[in-house]
Amino acid sequence: MNLEQFTHYACERVDRYLDRTLSAYIPASGLQEAMRYSLFNGGKRVRPMLTYAVAQLFTEANELTDASAAAVESIHAYSLIHDDLPAMDDDNLRRGKPTCHIQYDEATAILAGDALQTYAFELLSQSHLGKADTQIALIQTLQKASGRYGMVTGQMIDLANVDKEMTLEDLELMHRHKTGAIIRAAVKMGAQSVNVTDPKQLDALDLYASAIGLAFQVQDDIIDITSDTETLGKTQFSDSNANKPTYPKLLGLEGAQALAKRLHDEAIAQVMPFGPKATPLVELANYIIARNH
Ligand code: IPE
Ligand code: IPE
Ligand code: MG
Ligand code: MG
Ligand code: MG
Repeated sequence: MNLEQFTHYACERVDRYLDRTLSAYIPASGLQEAMRYSLFNGGKRVRPMLTYAVAQLFTEANELTDASAAAVESIHAYSLIHDDLPAMDDDNLRRGKPTCHIQYDEATAILAGDALQTYAFELLSQSHLGKADTQIALIQTLQKASGRYGMVTGQMIDLANVDKEMTLEDLELMHRHKTGAIIRAAVKMGAQSVNVTDPKQLDALDLYASAIGLAFQVQDDIIDITSDTETLGKTQFSDSNANKPTYPKLLGLEGAQALAKRLHDEAIAQVMPFGPKATPLVELANYIIARNH
């Protein structure tokens, strides 16, 4: 499969799973609508693609892989709804459409984010999956990446450093928490969902994920200045207007691009030993540092 075919396969698979599981309960239709709005409004699905790409290195993806991919994307969608709120980045545009709090209202956006967060763990803890030990391991991986050990701490560091100078070391710590942690979880959960236990293989995949996870946010900082609003689907210069610490600010644009390339090369070196089956992982790494939105 080339990247286009793989993207189609993974996106369709995770979308089907999200659509089916989300339809199970609808008493508050406004909440359901806002959750769906933020899950199905054109996200690139990079994290689910990583989960499926890792699983297929070893065997066919199974329902634990689907639940993992959907759970990671749901945490991601929630993180973006809250990230855009007036109290955080105060952004009006996401994926070329009004952000959740603009489309609905702030209270609905906060609650949709809350509900997407618990929905992720609902998916992983479904009893019919019947693999309690693996399910607990998946839940642990995702909670570590999302909460105080991961994304939420990264967001806190980000907001605490508005209008401040950061050292390169602190900026890296922030990015690794803010964005890197969930990308690492997406990769690890792909492996856990198909019972990979070989520590050497798990380590190589984790090194790959750490490198592309950081590269992903380096590129996100780069495209904030190099892509226009239409291409981005988000407001250009959102970071600089808000005086956010970013890689281009600290290293210059070329320095940030060189760092993204170095991290990309590090990532590829880790998955080469898996042979041709690693092609989707290699192509995803290429895409992560080449993307313009
Ligand atoms: C944007 O993530 C936010 C970051 C973590 C940098 P994506 O670029 O993956 O967003 P979508 O889901 O494709 O819109
Ligand atoms: C957001 O980082 C990372 C999250 C954990 C949501 P950004 O604030 O840079 O993401 P965008 O640029 O708004 O998508
Ligand atoms: Mg932010
Ligand atoms: Mg933001
Ligand atoms: Mg950004």
